[in-house]
Amino acid sequence: MKKTLKDIDVKGKKVLVRVDYNVPLDAELKITNDKRIAATLPTIQYLLDQNAAIILLSHLGRPKGKTVPEMSLSPVSARLSELIGKPVKFVGGDAISEESKKAAADLKAGEILLLENLRFHPEEEGKNAAGEKDKAAMDNFAKELASMGEVFVQEAFGTVHRAHASTVGIVKYVKDAAAGFLVEKELKFLGEALDNPQRPFIAILGGAKVSDKINVIENLLNKVDSIIIGGAMAYTFLKSQGVNAGTSLVENDKLDLAAELLKKAKERKIEFLLPVDHVIADKVDFTNKQIPEGAAVKITADEAIPEGFMGVDAGTKSIEKFAQSLKDAKTIVWNGPLGIFEIPEFAKGTVEIAKIVADATDAGAVSVVGGGDSVSAVKKAGVDKRISHISTGGGASLEFLEGKELPGIAALPEK
Ligand code: 3PG
Repeated sequence: MKKTLKDIDVKGKKVLVRVDYNVPLDAELKITNDKRIAATLPTIQYLLDQNAAIILLSHLGRPKGKTVPEMSLSPVSARLSELIGKPVKFVGGDAISEESKKAAADLKAGEILLLENLRFHPEEEGKNAAGEKDKAAMDNFAKELASMGEVFVQEAFGTVHRAHASTVGIVKYVKDAAAGFLVEKELKFLGEALDNPQRPFIAILGGAKVSDKINVIENLLNKVDSIIIGGAMAYTFLKSQGVNAGTSLVENDKLDLAAELLKKAKERKIEFLLPVDHVIADKVDFTNKQIPEGAAVKITADEAIPEGFMGVDAGTKSIEKFAQSLKDAKTIVWNGPLGIFEIPEFAKGTVEIAKIVADATDAGAVSVVGGGDSVSAVKKAGVDKRISHISTGGGASLEFLEGKELPGIAALPEK
């Protein structure tokens, strides 16, 4: 078991907290979703109650080692200050500049400082100024960050799948380290679902590509009682069984693999649910995310998709079939949309599933939802409060479901 926040002494200490404040910003640099900031408040409040001085470390976006003013964490410091009801100091420009170091050194008990985007430094991601891989440079950057505090708290669940200076390297240069409350909660929900689920355990996997989810499906085939597959991925599975997929987004080079996964599920007596009908369209404007004028949109009678049409969402019979299975579920893990979620008319299946998952949760299931579109669907359906746990990690929660070791967790000391 890894150390968690209450296992380490933070009283009156200078505490470095890695958070994932990689939040979406609009064109005016306004935060459009502050869930990741809000999710860290219990840890920050606990540290304040312990009279700690808090130094927050984060990245935002992918500036690739360069200073990109639009990716400054400045708007985040303002929002955090509103949410926590206290001033949050922020030094722009450079996270390890003399000014940042001075601000950290001067920080008093009960104060909060947010450093600038760590990814403005190539060293954060293990590269040097020339853009080459450079472990020593990364290590040095980690040491610089560590020198600003005494102990380290890993609270950036969304980034624990990255082996970076602020997620891994820093740990060996501090006196003690632990997982924060958010990381602890994420690991508890995801971990219990995978390792100790109440049964039946049903996974819902959606999204465009089988290739993105192969490892998740492989791992879940050892754990679940049923798998529901939606999104364009489903058309690859259907085509692998000889069903006509029309012009749907099929990965033709993954047909054998899809057939193999279906065979494995059958051998292991795992129910593998694919859509039995589909919303289809003859044209889709993927660039502008809309249905082009004059496009024909209809619903199929069964699983086959006629020539000239592509599947764009799960049909009504499919949703009913999935609902039937989900109503008795005791554990549900969901990642990925069931249709082209970006186009409102084709988001209906995904939004319906969100409601069904919420109903199953009300009836006693533990539900864990991860991945951008599924999380948005839960919000759009207005059922976010009725889901047991909404993960703040996209890639991180997927890697967890794949059964992979998460470097940012592995680096933490044992209890
Ligand atoms: C995320 O948004 O998934 C995390 O912040 C990690 O970001 P990254 O994929 O750019 O490493």
